[in-house]
Amino acid sequence: MKRIFTAITIAAFSMTAMADNAKVTVHVNQGSQKIHKEIYGQFAEHLGSCIYGGLWVGENSQIPNINGYRKDVFEALKALQIPVLRWPGGCFADEYHWMDGIGPKDKRPKMQNNNWGGTIEDNSFGTHEFLNLCEMLGCEPYISGNVGSGTVEELAKWVEYMTSDGDTPMAKLRRQNGRDKAWKVKFLGVGNESWGCGGNMRPEYYSDLYRRYSVYCRNYDGNNLYKIASGASDYDWNWTNVLMDRVGHRMNGLSLHYYTVTGWSGSKGAATKFTDDDYYWTIGKCLEIEDVVNKHAEIMDRKDPKKQIGLLVDEWGTWWDEEPGTIPGHLYQQNAMRDAFVAALSLNVFHRHCDRVRMANIAQVVNVLQSMILTDQKGTGHMVLTPTYHVFEMYKGFQEATYLPLDVQCTTKMARGDSHAKDGREISMLYSSAAKKADGSIILSLSNVSLTEPQEVEITLEGAQAKAVSGRILTCDNVADYNDFENPDRIRPVNFKDAKLKKGVLTVKVPARSIVVLDVK
Ligand code: AHR
Repeated sequence: MKRIFTAITIAAFSMTAMADNAKVTVHVNQGSQKIHKEIYGQFAEHLGSCIYGGLWVGENSQIPNINGYRKDVFEALKALQIPVLRWPGGCFADEYHWMDGIGPKDKRPKMQNNNWGGTIEDNSFGTHEFLNLCEMLGCEPYISGNVGSGTVEELAKWVEYMTSDGDTPMAKLRRQNGRDKAWKVKFLGVGNESWGCGGNMRPEYYSDLYRRYSVYCRNYDGNNLYKIASGASDYDWNWTNVLMDRVGHRMNGLSLHYYTVTGWSGSKGAATKFTDDDYYWTIGKCLEIEDVVNKHAEIMDRKDPKKQIGLLVDEWGTWWDEEPGTIPGHLYQQNAMRDAFVAALSLNVFHRHCDRVRMANIAQVVNVLQSMILTDQKGTGHMVLTPTYHVFEMYKGFQEATYLPLDVQCTTKMARGDSHAKDGREISMLYSSAAKKADGSIILSLSNVSLTEPQEVEITLEGAQAKAVSGRILTCDNVADYNDFENPDRIRPVNFKDAKLKKGVLTVKVPARSIVVLDVK
């Protein structure tokens, strides 16, 4: 059996001993869409130790910090070139009252974080701390506004406080609190998961609320808000349908949440202990995000054929069981090479849909779910970069590059299914994505998800002549391997030597369980 699909593609070769053969054809002459850098967005919620102990330790901490921001974490995130950071939630956002987080720290009221373990927090990280962090990181802030338990007035005043430079009451208050010049805030979420923790609403009711709240979120002094409506979860097509009908072009973007493993309750499996069968199931479930994006995009296309409304996958990633011994409700999980594959394959999907997918924010940046960084929960001041961090770092070159369509031919395998795919899911053993950078070079990723078989990949660049190739590889002995405080560099990218260029044809040997990113000139 031999099948060829376009772009996502697969053809079945018979499994041979030694290396499997695969072919990738990159249509360099067909690139037209830009991969929005915001697809590499991050998400920071007041949840567990994402903010407190992760991003923020306070000025008086023993842990080295820059004005209260954890130094090692800050530097690692700076190196990642984060384009956008979403805050303060998540579910937390719909219980957050921003005025509690401004002014002198010792006067800020404490609050109970009802969504996440009932933890008491002191609001020492608020609007100034967040927006200043974004400035230091050089990223766009994405503010998630409170619609569930807040008022129209409260959200309107928050926008004024952050962005007005005039002689307005909120700008004056901001100045009193030490910040003279307004910040620029582009992305504004009007509620989060309004069908669930954000108010348990019906889409019809939420649509009306969106229309009302968004009117009073004004553009001050050259600030231009990109307003995002709270969108569907996974397979809730009706939510998207109703919002497209009732809100339509009043929104600039519509969000979508898709977790590879969904998870408020029940066992989801451990992050680092799983069978081969579980692993392949994860790959299949992760790739299902493409069907979900396609279906929501199709609904949007009917009302918005010019694709003016962005689809923002502003929460995605793996959601495993919390690590034993950690605080329940804090969603602290390890991050194995399996998670790195979920990151790489999901990013490939977002690239392919860059005509509609305007932003994506992996959940979450530090210490929560599929994070970039883990800090030691015992307060030793140690930090590790996860395999997922390394994928984001290796993929940096895709930001703002021109997406190049491609075809892949490779072996496939049936993975176990679930209630959404009763007969299982057919998965490829090789996944690839390519883009042309501003300097004319091509960035190309190859993910060999096979647990056992290396792949010998022949790459044809249609419409381009390759002259030089270099690259890096992220690989592991076991796909359940991870970095921890004892072995922080067990998984890290190293130079890759197995890409050969002969008469314009590129041949690459990709070991099993590996992600390779090439720079082709
Ligand atoms: O990322 C964790 C939680 O998942 C978010 O707070 C919520 O929006 C989603 O259900």
